[in-house]
Amino acid sequence: MDKRRGLIFNTGLILLFLLQAVTCLEITNLRVPSSYSISRDEGDHKPLILGCDYDIDESESKGFVLKWKHNELQIYQWIPSRNPVVFSAFKGHIDLGYSESDDRLHKHSALKFINPIANYTGNYTCQVQTYQSVQSRTAHLQIIVPETDFSLGFQRETNGSTVVFCNVGEIFPRPEVSLLIDNEKVPDAVETEQVQEYTNYYNMTVQYILPDQNKDMELECEVTIPGTDYKLRTSMPYLGAAFRANAATLQVFLCTFLTVTLARMLTLF
Ligand SMILES: *[C@@H]1O[C@H](CO)[C@@H](O)[C@H](O)[C@H]1NC(C)=O
Ligand SMILES: *[C@@H]1O[C@H](CO)[C@@H](O)[C@H](O)[C@H]1NC(C)=O
Ligand SMILES: *[C@@H]1O[C@H](CO)[C@@H](O)[C@H](O)[C@H]1NC(C)=O
Ligand SMILES: *[C@@H]1O[C@H](CO)[C@@H](O)[C@H](O)[C@H]1NC(C)=O
Repeated sequence: MDKRRGLIFNTGLILLFLLQAVTCLEITNLRVPSSYSISRDEGDHKPLILGCDYDIDESESKGFVLKWKHNELQIYQWIPSRNPVVFSAFKGHIDLGYSESDDRLHKHSALKFINPIANYTGNYTCQVQTYQSVQSRTAHLQIIVPETDFSLGFQRETNGSTVVFCNVGEIFPRPEVSLLIDNEKVPDAVETEQVQEYTNYYNMTVQYILPDQNKDMELECEVTIPGTDYKLRTSMPYLGAAFRANAATLQVFLCTFLTVTLARMLTLF
C-alpha cells in the first residue's frame, strides 16, 4: 500500500516536471531602449519601436494574449487572428499596421509609435499569457526632448563683477548643468530653473561670479541627463589679462579726453 502510494507520488512528480518542461512560454528579449531622443527637425524621425521576443509552442498556445502596459495602465492588446487594440492616451499613437513577422503567434507583438512625445516616458511591460502560463518583463524608457538653446558666455556687471553663465533652453527631462573652469567643476554656481507650462520643458541657467577676473582661463559648460548618455559640452577662452589691459587703455583714453576738454575749457577763460 505504502509502496503504491510512493509510486503514485513519484509518477505525479515526474508528470509535473514534464508539464513544466513542456509549458514553454518564455520572454527571451524585451526591446525597450533606455532612452529615445525626439528629433526637432520635421521628417528626420528615427522610429521608436518596442519589441517583445518570446518562445511559444504552437501546441501550448491556447488562449494566447499579448499585452503592453505603460506604467500600470494597459495600452495594447493583441490576440492572434484578431486586430490589435490600443487603449487610452495611446489611441492613434501606435501604428496598427506594423509587423516584424508573419508568424501567427508573433505578428503584432511589437509597438511602433507615431510621433512620440515627452510624456511617453515610463515603464513598459510586455505580458504574454496562455491558459497555462503568464510571463512578463518590464523596462524603463526615457524620452528626451533636445534643447533649442545652449549657450555659454560672460558679462561684466555694472558693479565691475564678471558673471559667467550657461543657458539651456526647452529641454526635457530636467538636465544637470555644470560650469567648469580650467577643467575643474565650479561647486557653488547658482542654478535657476523654469518649467514651461503644458510641455513641462525646462529652461536652466547656471551663473558664477569670477573670483579673479583678471586671469586667463578656459570656460566650459556641460549638460547631462541622468540615466542616459545624452551629453552637451561647449567651451570658450576667457582672456582676463587682456580684459584688464583693455580696461586700462580705456581709462587712459578717458583721462586724456577729460584733460583735453579741461584744457579747452580753460582756454575759454
Ligand atoms: C518604474 O519602475 C521603477 C523600478 O521598478 C520604479 O521605481 C518607478 O517608480 C516606476 N515608475 C513609474 C512611473 O511607475
Ligand atoms: C500626454 O499628454 C497629452 C497632452 O499633451 C495627453 O493628451 C496624454 O493623455 C498624455 N499621455 C500620457 C501617457 O500621459
Ligand atoms: C555685483 O552684482 C551682482 C548682481 O548683478 C552681485 O551678485 C554681485 O555680488 C555684485 N558684486 C559685488 C562685488 O558686489
Ligand atoms: C526658455 O528658453 C527659450 C529658448 O532659449 C526661450 O525662447 C523662452 O522664452 C524661455 N522661456 C522662459 C519661460 O524663460
